[in-house]
Amino acid sequence: MLDEKIVLEQEKIDYYRENGFVQIDGILSPDEVNELREHLAEVMGADQGHSVSTDKQGGAYYNVLNQRVNTWRDHGGMARFVMSRRLADAAKQLAGFPNTRLFHDHALFKMPHDSKPTPWHQDLPYWPMNERGAMSIWIALDDVDEHNGCMMFIPKSQRIRNLKHVDLIQPHDIFSEEGAAEADRNKAVIVRMKAGSCTFHDGLTFHYAHANNSDRPRRALAIIYMADGTTYSGAGHVCTDNTGHQSGDPLKGGLFPKLT
Ligand code: SIN
Ligand code: NI
Repeated sequence: MLDEKIVLEQEKIDYYRENGFVQIDGILSPDEVNELREHLAEVMGADQGHSVSTDKQGGAYYNVLNQRVNTWRDHGGMARFVMSRRLADAAKQLAGFPNTRLFHDHALFKMPHDSKPTPWHQDLPYWPMNERGAMSIWIALDDVDEHNGCMMFIPKSQRIRNLKHVDLIQPHDIFSEEGAAEADRNKAVIVRMKAGSCTFHDGLTFHYAHANNSDRPRRALAIIYMADGTTYSGAGHVCTDNTGHQSGDPLKGGLFPKLT
């Protein structure tokens, strides 16, 4: 049951804390994967509702990612997965959150034909948070490898702070930024996975996803979790714009529900 607690091996927790990411196989069963694929197919094409898609077919961003943020707000089936105890509990154990809140979910499809890689970046510079620590689960809904868009991570790069955000369409080389000297691109770990397996990564861990050179979409669902008590920085973001949050306010309320 998605509502049941999960107990992660200490080895996985230690690995995450040391390296800033970890792979957990089989976090969803084959039946759950099928169900989630169906929900995603229903929600991805929606042209109205509360979820947000950043670009349409033909756009430069679409070639990197066909994405939709906050699918849980439009689809009860998505909400069941996004709010699930099992996934939030795993995040809490890895990150060591006292309590966990949802920041947002993020359906991430890499479409076939003219697909571009997701360039090396950190996530936290895009998020309007004063504190570090927020992190993502990235659940593969297709088997993934270098051919169709699997991810890579730089171990220990979660220690690197205060870098600029990377424009995903016209990226600069994050490794050449002042302050990124500790990160070595030759240490990149390629994470090939089966559908239903996942990675968790810290908001500061450098990561990259290969282009999708297959002839089918590469489907993934990310969910971004933060510690209860995380405060709003005041920066613009699709999930906080027009919500009434003032700089310094805790990110809480119905749009950022407490999950654990
Ligand atoms: C991707 O799915 O291609 C990238 C995901 C991420 O940047 O977290
Ligand atoms: Ni990212």
